[in-house]
Amino acid sequence: SVPLPHGLAHKSIQVVAHRGSSEDVPEHTLAAYRKAIEDGADALECDVRLTADGHLVCVHDRRVNRTSNGRGAVSALELADLAALDFGSWKPEDDAEATDDTRLTFEGGELRSVLTLERLLELVADADRRVELAIETKHPTRYAGQVETKLLEMLRRFGLDRPGPGESSAVRVMSFSSRSLRRIQAGAPELPTVYLMQYVTPRIRDGRLPAGVRIAGPGIRILRSHPGFVARLHREGHRVHVWTVNEPGDVELCVRLGVDAIITNRPKEVLRQLGRG
Ligand code: G3P
Ligand code: CA
Repeated sequence: SVPLPHGLAHKSIQVVAHRGSSEDVPEHTLAAYRKAIEDGADALECDVRLTADGHLVCVHDRRVNRTSNGRGAVSALELADLAALDFGSWKPEDDAEATDDTRLTFEGGELRSVLTLERLLELVADADRRVELAIETKHPTRYAGQVETKLLEMLRRFGLDRPGPGESSAVRVMSFSSRSLRRIQAGAPELPTVYLMQYVTPRIRDGRLPAGVRIAGPGIRILRSHPGFVARLHREGHRVHVWTVNEPGDVELCVRLGVDAIITNRPKEVLRQLGRG
């Protein structure tokens, strides 16, 4: 691990498990999120999409081809079709790396089946400590507002659409689409939103985000080439959540720049590097 400069407040950086502990366990499975909670992650990141019959499921790609033994677009499949697929076997287990804990998480149908957002919210509700959620809406244009409507309904059911009295929100909604974030703000004004960005466009170069958004979500590549961006965002009163930070050198860069959250496929290793593992 890379030694960090002495005296930095590493504990204030939130560590977010990207698609669960997805370096070790197939992404977006219940097993990956259970492992992330065991690993000590402060928050869980997940992508949500809508099935043909209107269920929100945690799947990154438009199609299920890469992460399951099935084929086709999530939006064209019903939940029952997805439930028949195996989302656990596509990722080859590296015998040298696998531990007994990791292997155990592959047992049982539910652990490797498609994960609904509802099941993920249950997992978080049952956790014996506070675990936050960073939920990303995918392809809001395709679904014409339905993803946001369903997401807000689901969060309301779990009492997660607003912070409890005197608390900060346990959930934030992220998107590359400012339109999607606007829909969330309109339906749940107290829910924090995160504007994800792959490039620094001239519009956001000066640190100004879309209206109502208080958190910037730049990719780590932006920080490597524009290290002053974090300070600029902080000066504008924004927080900065960076993805996807897996390399020790990038973790060190994030610490040096004072980012607020690190989104990573390997929360255990990042927590260790931050002196929390
Ligand atoms: O956490 C944000 C990050 O997940 C955005 O990229 O493609 O992994 O969803 P992607
Ligand atoms: Ca994502």
